[in-house]
Amino acid sequence: MSVKIFDRPDVQEFLTVLSGLDKAGGSPRMKEITHRLMTDLFRAIDDLNITPDEYWTGIAWLNDIGAAGQAGLISPGLGLDHFIDERLDAIDAAIGIENPTPRTIEGPLYVAGAPESVGFARLDDGRDIEGQTLIMHGVVHGADGKPLPGAKVEVWHCDTRGFYSHFDPTGLQAPFNMRRTIFADENGRYKFQSILPSGYGVPPGSPTERLLSALGRHGQRPAHIHFFISADGHRKLTTQINIEGDPLINDDFAYATREGLVPRVMERDDEASIHANNLNGPFAEIEWDIYLTALVDGVDNQVNEQRKRAAA
Ligand code: DHB
Ligand code: FE
Repeated sequence: MSVKIFDRPDVQEFLTVLSGLDKAGGSPRMKEITHRLMTDLFRAIDDLNITPDEYWTGIAWLNDIGAAGQAGLISPGLGLDHFIDERLDAIDAAIGIENPTPRTIEGPLYVAGAPESVGFARLDDGRDIEGQTLIMHGVVHGADGKPLPGAKVEVWHCDTRGFYSHFDPTGLQAPFNMRRTIFADENGRYKFQSILPSGYGVPPGSPTERLLSALGRHGQRPAHIHFFISADGHRKLTTQINIEGDPLINDDFAYATREGLVPRVMERDDEASIHANNLNGPFAEIEWDIYLTALVDGVDNQVNEQRKRAAA
């Protein structure tokens, strides 16, 4: 038996009322969005014959997600972060903007306030001895293609256990471990020493993982390094690189992998390279140049100032 009530005039009237569209106060935009989302939800309940048990299972899951602070974790898992990136790309294409360095999702684990330096920083505190030493460097270019001295490169990544400082369930990492802000030097160059991160997995047993499991999916990401890059007169770029060779590069639960964001990893074991980087053994080197884009009519048309981010 298939009962449908969505098209009934009283149900349509109910949607208008519950969205506040019949009242003067409140925000017209909130009303518009709420009306649309509730309309789609009512229709789905009707069309899919969503049972009360299924509905209340969903509500309990939303409570669990909120209590765990994981709305920002499941958002990329359900592809919303990537979809928003695809829309930003399409908007750029429509107004003729090319992004030589592709954007990709921020993820939920940035923390504001990392230590700052000019030209170079060491990101790790040396305690993750499983990690292979990484030297990463490159030039930040402006919209005119020229190097951009003073460009701000914010970088963050996880350790070899897949844990980020400030979100480490073992509490073993000091604040801002593997998080730094580097201002490009007078030649527009940034450089850092760290370790190669491992892949990341959503917290085991978490509501995020429970939904992914119910979809027959995993909650793993390939090894990656996050960046915000900003400079006067340019749009802030949010992106990541993947560590070449990771088996999950094309199987990222957060859908962040993009062409142009998997730079080569060069293994260095020659004395000259080791010496030049003040190291005492072999290391991995990644060279990656970054290209920023100009403001649009004098403003950054992509900023998301409302996004809540952790501050230490
Ligand atoms: C998630 C974690 C990440 O480290 C990331 O880069 C993107 C998403 C997450 O848990 O959803
Ligand atoms: Fe991440």
